[in-house]
Amino acid sequence: MEIFVADTYQQMSMKAAQDVIHLMQASQNKLLCIASGDTPAGMYKEIIAKVKTEELDITDWKFLGLDEWAGMNGHDEGSCRYHLDKQFFYPLQINTERVSFFNGRATDLEKECATTEDFIKQHGGIAVAILGIGLNGHIGMNEPGTSFLLYSHVAQISQETQTVGQKYFTTARQLSHGITLGIANLMEARHVILLASGSNKAAIIKKTLEEEISEKLPATVLRQHTGLKIYLDAGAAQLHSINKNHGCPNLYWY
Ligand code: PGA
Repeated sequence: MEIFVADTYQQMSMKAAQDVIHLMQASQNKLLCIASGDTPAGMYKEIIAKVKTEELDITDWKFLGLDEWAGMNGHDEGSCRYHLDKQFFYPLQINTERVSFFNGRATDLEKECATTEDFIKQHGGIAVAILGIGLNGHIGMNEPGTSFLLYSHVAQISQETQTVGQKYFTTARQLSHGITLGIANLMEARHVILLASGSNKAAIIKKTLEEEISEKLPATVLRQHTGLKIYLDAGAAQLHSINKNHGCPNLYWY
């Protein structure tokens, strides 16, 4: 595990973008798992800027959506796909054939899971998985109590996440279920990039790094992933006991 702490959100986003690009370029398989949410938006902007200035060619990259709310797809304002279309796929004019994304409006959500698993296999596994973290430690829609052994599945959304999740929508929405990659998928990704920004994430980052690894706190499992890199801004890092003075070999400030 490596932890990178930046003073600002923008610096954090720039560093994470650089590393994602290097990891993708060095990888033989080119499947990037992409998360929606507020946190990775700055990193996507950095990647887009590099493509637009032709510093970066991503024509061989393929994309996999991390999760989606049940009952929604890209046509629903506020859905995961809707945000990623706006923040990433449309600005880069990514052909939909290069993207696999859960359709939460599908009548057969189990079939959506099977299609996703096929897409992952077809592309040689996930090269890099980008993740945010929920205030309760969820990753994707793997809420506290979810088995670490699950692959893609339909998930029940915790009360806390149903409330917090309203921030993505202009009108109140029913968010009782979702469809998500499982923790087993994420643990099989070659590299995992976990991003957290702001002081409201400081407590969960501290717990994720310091508490016992347990299904009660899904993000703790990532500590067992040998290719984990965590990116924090000063707000998200502020409660964690390692800091500039502790000389942790895997902690970098910049
Ligand atoms: P956020 O969401 O980036 O909008 O804070 C993270 C998450 O819930 O996984």
